[in-house]
Amino acid sequence: MELKMISVIGAGAMGSGIAQVSAVAGYQVILQDISDAALDRAKAAINKSLGKMVEKKKMTESDKDETVSRIELTTDMEKACRSADLLIEAVFENLELKRKMFSDFDKFCKPEAIIGSNTSALPITEIASRTKRGDKIIGIHFMNPVPLMKGVEIIPAQLTSDDTVSVVLEYIKKIGKEHIMAVDYAGFIVSRLLDVLMNEAVKLVQEGNKPEEIDKAMVLCAGHPMGPCKLLDLVGAEIAMHGMETMARDFGEFYKPHALLKKRVLAGLLGQKTGKGFYDYQ
Ligand code: 3HC
Repeated sequence: MELKMISVIGAGAMGSGIAQVSAVAGYQVILQDISDAALDRAKAAINKSLGKMVEKKKMTESDKDETVSRIELTTDMEKACRSADLLIEAVFENLELKRKMFSDFDKFCKPEAIIGSNTSALPITEIASRTKRGDKIIGIHFMNPVPLMKGVEIIPAQLTSDDTVSVVLEYIKKIGKEHIMAVDYAGFIVSRLLDVLMNEAVKLVQEGNKPEEIDKAMVLCAGHPMGPCKLLDLVGAEIAMHGMETMARDFGEFYKPHALLKKRVLAGLLGQKTGKGFYDYQ
């Protein structure tokens, strides 16, 4: 099966990044969100990111314009489903919402369409359980910031067919990324490791360590590209908290999000997206 049209559901940082890299690779893209404001923000983010690539001479201004013209923004979910050869869901981390949405996707997408989830940590088999096309459902876990991060986790669910995996691997190659195969348990590989690291960093803060010192330690002493507090601000504190909750549900107490992490989420200290986390982005 040849993919031509990629529909992305959810126009947050991840959804807009997925739409962008798909359009750069030449796919026609529909980016859907229920809110016009989210679509406006996505459009601005895509323009800014592509603008940086033009600045760095990674693409020309006319490539940029063509890329943007391949992305259609809409609030119409049925339309996004009907057009898709591959649909990628990138809405927030709520299992019930995703299960309900997947059952709608199943209704509205053409029978041969593949449906992927960009969930950070929720098991794909659980998200897919209300659909009748288990063979065509798969986890496609992009990393933030999507245009820059090379790796994408691919998570076959319990019923995913080999054909679906190979079509999706071809897509990953075409968008210039490398795939990592992960097994369908909460957190897969990347969130399982990074959420624990970020949760532990929050404990260190609660014990009196400064975020700047924790970050400096992991950059200078462990060679990480950015420290865990800065990373938490990048991915969003609520994403790490939901990841930990899902892992605690499936694997036990060790994974429980730290109380301070929950408190920070409740206070809206989510990081870059709210303008304030461990650092100030206003
Ligand atoms: N589009 C285009 N260009 C961008 C960009 C974007 N969205 N964001 C940044 N850039 C550019 C910058 O302008 C900068 O350009 P310059 O070299 O001309 O100044 C260049 O990319 C490098 O960026 P920075 O100077 O800001 O910073 P770094 O060199 O430190 O690189 C990074 C940034 C690639 C994000 C690096 O710090 C990194 O790899 N961090 C770790 C990120 C990570 O772990 N992501 C995964 C998180 S887990 C996840 O996403 C899963 C999810 O489910 C939660």
